[in-house]
Amino acid sequence: MSSSAPIGVFDSGIGGTTVVKELMASLPNEKIIYFGDTARVPYGNKSAGTVIMYSRQIVRFLLEKKVKAIVIACNTASALALDALKSELEVPIIGVVKPGAKAAAEVTKSNKIGVIATRATINSGIYKEFLHKTNPDIQVFEKACPLFVPLVEEGWISDDITRQVIHRYLDDLIEQGIDALVLGCTHYPLLTDEIGKVTGEKIKLVNPAYECAREFRYVLEENDLLCQEKHIPEHEFYVSDGPKAFAELANSFLGEGIIKRENVKVHNFENDDSILRTYEIKRRG
Ligand code: DGL
Repeated sequence: MSSSAPIGVFDSGIGGTTVVKELMASLPNEKIIYFGDTARVPYGNKSAGTVIMYSRQIVRFLLEKKVKAIVIACNTASALALDALKSELEVPIIGVVKPGAKAAAEVTKSNKIGVIATRATINSGIYKEFLHKTNPDIQVFEKACPLFVPLVEEGWISDDITRQVIHRYLDDLIEQGIDALVLGCTHYPLLTDEIGKVTGEKIKLVNPAYECAREFRYVLEENDLLCQEKHIPEHEFYVSDGPKAFAELANSFLGEGIIKRENVKVHNFENDDSILRTYEIKRRG
C-alpha cells in the first residue's frame, strides 16, 4: 500500500467531521475520503448487528477508493463494530473510543471518570472496559445523553434549552466527584464551552476526536504510511442522503466554505440487496 493513498474516515452522519477537523490539523498532507451515512443516522439507538452490517458496507466502499487506513469517527460504530472489522481487514483501522479512554485515564487524579455518549455506546460498556483495563481502580460513571445530538444539529449550541438539558444530564455525574468527563459522541465536542460552564474548571473534558487524530498519526508512522508529499490535499466527502444539508452543517462544524458541493453520484453496495444512494461532495482543500 502506497503512503500517498488516501485515508478513509466514516461516521453515521455529520458528526464525524469533528474528527476530520482534528485529522486535518494533525495530518495536513493526508487526503481524506469521508463517508457519512446520513440516510441511516442515528446509529446511537441501533443494535450491534445493524451497526456492524452498515459499517462493513461503508468499509467496503472506502476500500474500493483504495484507502490505506481507516478511522471510525463514530463512537457508536467504534464501540460496536471495530473488533469485527479489525479481524476482517488488512489495512490498519482505529476507532475513537480507545484513545478517548486512554486520555481520560491519564488525566484523572481522583480515579472517578464520567462518560457521556449515545445509548448504544453506553450499553456496550466499552468505555468502562477500556478504563478498567488501564486502571482497575477507576470508578466510571456513565450517562447516555441522546438529546445532545439533535440540539447540536439544530445549531442550538449557546441556548437556554441546551443549558437546561446539560444540567439535567450532568448534575448527577458532577455530584459523584468526577474530575474527568469523556465526550464520547462525535457531536459533544461542539458543546465543550457550554458543558464546561456546567462542569467547572475542576473537571477536565476529554475529546476523543483529538486523541484519535494523535493515535492515528502513530499508526501511519508505524506502518510507514505517513504521506511524505507536502501538498494541499483534495478531500472527498460522501454521504448516503441529503448532500446539501450535509455541506451546510459540516461547514458550520468545520468552518465556513470548507466543503463545496460539486457533484453528486449514486453508489451501489456490492453483495447487498439494497442500494444505498451515495452522493459525492468534493472539496478543494
Ligand atoms: N456519531 C454518533 C456517535 O458518535 C452519534 C450520532 C448517532 O447516533 O449516530 O456515537
